[in-house]
Amino acid sequence: MTAYLITGVSVVGGEPTDLLIRDGMVAAVGDGLAADDATVVDATGLVALPGLVDLHTHLREPGREDAETVESGSRAAALGGYTAVCAMANTSPVADTAGVVEQVWRLGREAGLVDVQPIGAVTVGLAGERLAELGAMADSAAGVRIFSDDGHCVADPRLMRRALEYVKAFDGVIAQHAEEPRLTEGAQMHEGEVSTRLGLTGWPAVAEEAIIARDVLLAEHVGSRLHVCHVSTAGSVEVLRQAKARGVRVTAEVTPHHLLLTDAKAESYDPVFKVNPPLRTAADIAALREALAEGVIDIIATDHAPHAVEDKECEWAYARPGMLGLETALSIALDVFGPRWDLIAERMSRTPARIAGLTGHGVDPAPGVPANLTLVDPAARRVIEPAELASRSRNTPYARMTLPGRIVATFLRGEPTVLDGKAVK
Ligand code: DOR
Ligand code: ZN
Repeated sequence: MTAYLITGVSVVGGEPTDLLIRDGMVAAVGDGLAADDATVVDATGLVALPGLVDLHTHLREPGREDAETVESGSRAAALGGYTAVCAMANTSPVADTAGVVEQVWRLGREAGLVDVQPIGAVTVGLAGERLAELGAMADSAAGVRIFSDDGHCVADPRLMRRALEYVKAFDGVIAQHAEEPRLTEGAQMHEGEVSTRLGLTGWPAVAEEAIIARDVLLAEHVGSRLHVCHVSTAGSVEVLRQAKARGVRVTAEVTPHHLLLTDAKAESYDPVFKVNPPLRTAADIAALREALAEGVIDIIATDHAPHAVEDKECEWAYARPGMLGLETALSIALDVFGPRWDLIAERMSRTPARIAGLTGHGVDPAPGVPANLTLVDPAARRVIEPAELASRSRNTPYARMTLPGRIVATFLRGEPTVLDGKAVK
């Protein structure tokens, strides 16, 4: 294994120092380090962060390898500064058995660019009728700990209760896509002033808030862990704030796009802005940013949702919801929060790693810890060109926008997956 000496780097915003990586671990941190056998990486002006961890990634394999594969999504993740991603279960076939989660886990190992931790479905086929084999997925080689029907809500309260009870035995987590389906039938965008003007059927905020309110009560009753996917409204923040104050075991995520883009984007009728839950209002964005800074929302998760051109570049009503996220998430965080490195490390690495139980990830570079880290150039600015993304899909909402920050290098267990801003393999 090659050793790497990273010089002049700021560790999570601290004073410049050197980092020596050897045998997959951070071997030393300090000024004036030397190692004859090491490859030197001049990191003057760069910031080292613990490798980012995404709790919500759609990799599309098996089933839609034209839109993304485990390998192409892993490469996009590494280029975005990630060392671990949790792969959502809405593949085809659905990841609702030990066989499918093991397949995804094995493909992740073979790609070797990030650690791919499969999420298992809560219900068979995401149909919301019968619990999937949660125990078999937990006991499989993939060691599933998070279960989600994401893309769909576990709408039946009795099933949701049973799922929470089931995972309690091994301290698992149910990650809910909070959307009361009866309130969002035919919905195309956020229900509000813009949807009224455009004549598009609205997705009211209360459809999300009602499910979160119900689920925090269920989680409290059962004493299990609930995670809320892609929180998008100010009202949801208030429900979470109250639940956390009562000590409910609930965590929550917000996506980069819900921190930056409003429902006014729908005025273009460009389906790249169609996403579920939909883009909301400026007031929602303000509440989400404040909640993330305070910790009422625990993490940023991308909801990276690649879609093939024919599923996305069509009439708004027929386009699939979802947008790419892995290769731009850190830039959006920098744009929104500026160089608050400790906050970024906490919300994009340490806390998501803890929620997912990914040991070895989400740990700041220090002697003796696994060398899972990323180097960011905070002074760089880049224009997002969809054709240059590593994802197999092109549905980024940031096309031709100039964004701050660039990932210069990413290391997974001491081996570079990205160097000089380019994927190593
Ligand atoms: O916009 C979305 N896209 N929201 C989801 O919940 C699912 C996702 C997808 O799988 O494309
Ligand atoms: Zn979702």
